[in-house]
Amino acid sequence: MLDIGLSFATASAPATVSNVAVGFDILGFSLTGLSDEVTVRRVTDPGVHIVDIEAPGELPEDPKLNTATAGLVALVQDRDLPFGLEVTIKKGVPLRSGLGGPAASAVAAIVATSAVLDEPLSLPERFHYALLGEELAAGTPHGDNIAPAMLGGLILVRNMDPFDVLRVPVPHDMGVVVVHPSQEVNVRMARELLRKEVPMADFVAQTANLAGFISGCFRDDRALIGRSLQDLIVEPQRAHLIPGFEAVKEAARETGALGCSISGAGPAVFALHDFDVDAAEICDAMVQAFADAGVEARGVYSPVQGLGAHIIERGPRGQ
Ligand code: HSE
Repeated sequence: MLDIGLSFATASAPATVSNVAVGFDILGFSLTGLSDEVTVRRVTDPGVHIVDIEAPGELPEDPKLNTATAGLVALVQDRDLPFGLEVTIKKGVPLRSGLGGPAASAVAAIVATSAVLDEPLSLPERFHYALLGEELAAGTPHGDNIAPAMLGGLILVRNMDPFDVLRVPVPHDMGVVVVHPSQEVNVRMARELLRKEVPMADFVAQTANLAGFISGCFRDDRALIGRSLQDLIVEPQRAHLIPGFEAVKEAARETGALGCSISGAGPAVFALHDFDVDAAEICDAMVQAFADAGVEARGVYSPVQGLGAHIIERGPRGQ
């Protein structure tokens, strides 16, 4: 394929913890240290072309079926672009881990694409096209991984269309331990198993927890954050997908975490903590609890205030 030499861009987008126990489909934060990278290059051949995928497992090479490129296919059609996009995908976020892998790829791809367009995309447009990739992975659109992957930090998605997302302040010395067991959860399945109706008492209690968590973030009130970080609706329906989950959660609490729950649809589990407790101790206890359940797991630490998607390289290419 002939490169018309206009430009290329490589964007990085981070892994994310979504739901955050109390905000199913509406709350998420970005992590540092785990990210996907996508390079997009303008070429003469119209359409979207995946040229390389570096990943620890099989991913679709058809651009319409790949979460990174589904949004680009729609964009090329909507804008009737007179050039094509060559896409290289490098996965750093573990697949089907509950750490927002599809969102990281979709966001990195649209951010890189926006950088090579003559007219860059607005934030709501980037969100819209990235959401198409997430929808492909999950069966239904939800922005709680896309928004924090795009913007960084802790983000509340009040509404997807029209776009209405809000940054929630994070207490500056708050960290997260994320422990990822060596298994995969299919996000579609994990969504389909959820009951479609919520008992009124659970709705009331969960709404109070969400309000308490958000208030705790604004007021820098860790005790309130800890009391509020309880998922009464989704976690009980998914816990059985994660061997040892209750013991892992208990281990996190016992070693000083403010709270612990499933990251996204799992199987990764996250635990929020103050910087004045020993994150390594929390992590070791969680990993050991997984081991006791016969599951190998590995943990990572991150501030809750991770970076959002950004361009890491761009410029002219080809002759
Ligand atoms: N909010 C989503 C869920 C995240 O829990 O199903 C997974 O992509």
